[in-house]
Amino acid sequence: MVEDIVARFKDLYQAEPVVVRSPGRVNLIGEHTDYNEGFVLPAAINKEIYFAIAPNGTHTLRAHAYDLEESAEFDLNNVQRTNIGWANYLLGVVAQLQKAGHEVKGFNLVFGGNVPIGAGLSSSAAVECGLAYALNYLYAYGIERFDLVKMAQKAEHEYALVMCGIMDQFASMFGKHNHVVKLDCRSLEYQYYPFNINDYRIVLCDTQVKHSLASSEYNTRRQECETGVALLQKHYPHIHSLRDVTPEMLAQHQAEFDPVVYRRCTYVVQENLRVEEACQDLERGDLVAFGQKMFASHQGLQHDYEVSCPELDFLADQARHSDAVLGARMMGGGFGGCTINLVKLDQLDQFTRQMSEAYQAQYGITLKTYVAEIVDGSSLVPVDFSKK
Ligand code: GLA
Repeated sequence: MVEDIVARFKDLYQAEPVVVRSPGRVNLIGEHTDYNEGFVLPAAINKEIYFAIAPNGTHTLRAHAYDLEESAEFDLNNVQRTNIGWANYLLGVVAQLQKAGHEVKGFNLVFGGNVPIGAGLSSSAAVECGLAYALNYLYAYGIERFDLVKMAQKAEHEYALVMCGIMDQFASMFGKHNHVVKLDCRSLEYQYYPFNINDYRIVLCDTQVKHSLASSEYNTRRQECETGVALLQKHYPHIHSLRDVTPEMLAQHQAEFDPVVYRRCTYVVQENLRVEEACQDLERGDLVAFGQKMFASHQGLQHDYEVSCPELDFLADQARHSDAVLGARMMGGGFGGCTINLVKLDQLDQFTRQMSEAYQAQYGITLKTYVAEIVDGSSLVPVDFSKK
């Protein structure tokens, strides 16, 4: 794949590029907690976007989206949102660099990869982080990795108009081979945990649906959480987010809550506790207990946070009743995309066959499954040009 992208770059621009890779992500547990200043437990995976890039001595960005076979040019002296969807992820990053006072000189770019789009594996974060990383390298801005993450997140807010939390961009940049990383989304402290699942595999089951509710409901959930916080602040002035709220505080003031807001807040408070407990399970090497928390997370997302959908619930249910599976749940924003499953290696084929048959019978859709391997975050790709 990366060879094809480099070859296309040479064809289009007759020059040798720098090559960067940036991965998509999974999240083991801790969903819809990032924008509530809580905890998440993601990992970067071997679904990646590649960037072949080089300065072109102009003030123009010449970009080619390899997978879509589309090209476009943009004046870097006048960067603004465009109606070309994929280009907004690039321009959003350029705009953030410029806002921070960095000069972005013209460059040529070919990018593409194998992160499925709309599957909830954060292809957009991979694009944003990859370009931020590449430009930081190319023009030696000397920007810290964490600041690149924040710029990539801002690019998503301002150019893709999705008010995402920080998890996806963080995971793409800070992933580590065979580790999951617990991020405290308030302090931004993080800790790697070895994820040695020799006898198991992370399997993603892609519903291949994306309900149109996804982004509007995402923003609604954020507001519902803020409503809950505002209510509790009257009693507990020190609290700043649902991160500061305990189950006891919620229970004590239940009568004052709108029932929907109450369920939303309950889910977030419980999910934060689950991430902390799940990390303790990892420290003890207790994957069975870890898997149980994944199932519980799905229940909360389905019934209390209500960001699941019938297709995800069906796959999570099937997994719960399979003895090949330690844990399963919907992953990411919801309303479609993938479930994440911890599956026994020796039952992997049987699991994918059974899930595919069941999904086909229920929805008439051929299930896509991916076995995710955990890889390092954004990095340079050494390319040996002497070979070609
Ligand atoms: C999307 C967002 C993330 C996070 C998840 C839900 O992936 O981009 O910031 O909020 O949904 O956990």
